[in-house]
Amino acid sequence: MTTLPSTMFAVIQTHDGYSDTATGPVIDAAADWLAEAEVPVPQPGPGQVLIRLRTASVNPSDIHFIKGEYGQPRVQDTPAGFEGCGDVVATGAGAEALNGLRVAFVAANAGAWAEYVVTQAQMCIPLRPEISDEDGSAQIVNPLTAMAMVDIARGDGDAFVVSAATSQLGKLMCSLGRDLGLKPIALVRRSDAVEALKELGAHEVLVATDPDVTQKFAALSKELKPRVFLDAVADQLSEQIFCAMPNGARWICYGKLSAELPKLTQTGQLIFMGKRIEGFWLTQWMTSTPPADQMRVVGEVQARFADGRWKTDVSERLALRDVVSNLADALKKGDGKVIITP
Ligand SMILES: NC(=O)c1ccc[n+]([C@@H]2O[C@H](COP(=O)([O-])OP(=O)(O)OC[C@H]3O[C@@H](n4cnc5c(N)ncnc54)[C@H](OP(=O)(O)O)[C@@H]3O)[C@@H](O)[C@H]2O)c1
Repeated sequence: MTTLPSTMFAVIQTHDGYSDTATGPVIDAAADWLAEAEVPVPQPGPGQVLIRLRTASVNPSDIHFIKGEYGQPRVQDTPAGFEGCGDVVATGAGAEALNGLRVAFVAANAGAWAEYVVTQAQMCIPLRPEISDEDGSAQIVNPLTAMAMVDIARGDGDAFVVSAATSQLGKLMCSLGRDLGLKPIALVRRSDAVEALKELGAHEVLVATDPDVTQKFAALSKELKPRVFLDAVADQLSEQIFCAMPNGARWICYGKLSAELPKLTQTGQLIFMGKRIEGFWLTQWMTSTPPADQMRVVGEVQARFADGRWKTDVSERLALRDVVSNLADALKKGDGKVIITP
């Protein structure tokens, strides 16, 4: 039996509830939203586990959350961070089967940016030994979203559009799409990313800053007839892409990387062309997808990481004690995840 300390180091939130901003997942200084603290080690309740952190990943949702822009309210003085990997060191009633296992986890109420984390046993996935701690820390949010959204695209033709395709999720979806025989059309904002994304699986790559991007997309749309647009940017270019898609097209907004608010210019398309604007949220997918289907998807995700078809690109590693001082700079590096270690 491990002896646990009574207190731990944690990066806690300094605000409560929601804000009324929509400025995107960028920060000038983490100290505007976060503070360092020594707090009690949490106790697992029924159905919960206590995890000693190995690695946590920083997702855009973490940044939206600490700024009060995410789909659930902040709780002041509690640790931030949703996703990570660690060892189960204590369990509540009904969760004993996970004791001692290394798991990937999501802390639905946040708490991953701390030495110890409590979460529901159902939000933990025991990890295969071939999977590294870094891949383990980004094993749930993006991979499950990629599997779920490419599955949506697959049901609607063989070409689909992915914006912010240089994001981790974009890369996962391009390679998965290619492996399934689909044709991902990738939108990026950096022209130096085009070749790498094609190698990864994108059928075509368009650069958002190209003055002819809309015309180029319209030509591609005519040829490949993509009916699903998986969009994490949601700006005016997204709206123009949607307008250039064929009858029955679906604009599925799942992120808000851009602070620009798009306006609808062709609402008649919703009426006369059967086009739809929708959202996707993994939390909703998890509550509405039967457990057996989720287990199948989780198994496929681990298989893809275990044999190297998928990997987590890491842009920066930060010690937990350096998060408040260095997170904002670390996030500016881009093209990979910031990984936090205790
Ligand atoms: N709805 C859900 O359930 C769900 C689940 C998971 C993730 N998401 C969303 O999926 C998106 C991607 O997540 P991730 O973890 O893969 O992100 P990530 O790896 O942190 O990458 C984000 C990348 O997007 C690009 N980007 C940032 N701002 C942009 C903008 N205004 N226009 C175009 N590209 C921009 C940047 O790449 P460059 O610098 O190379 O351009 C940036 O590195 C996020 O919006 C996240 O919130 C949603």
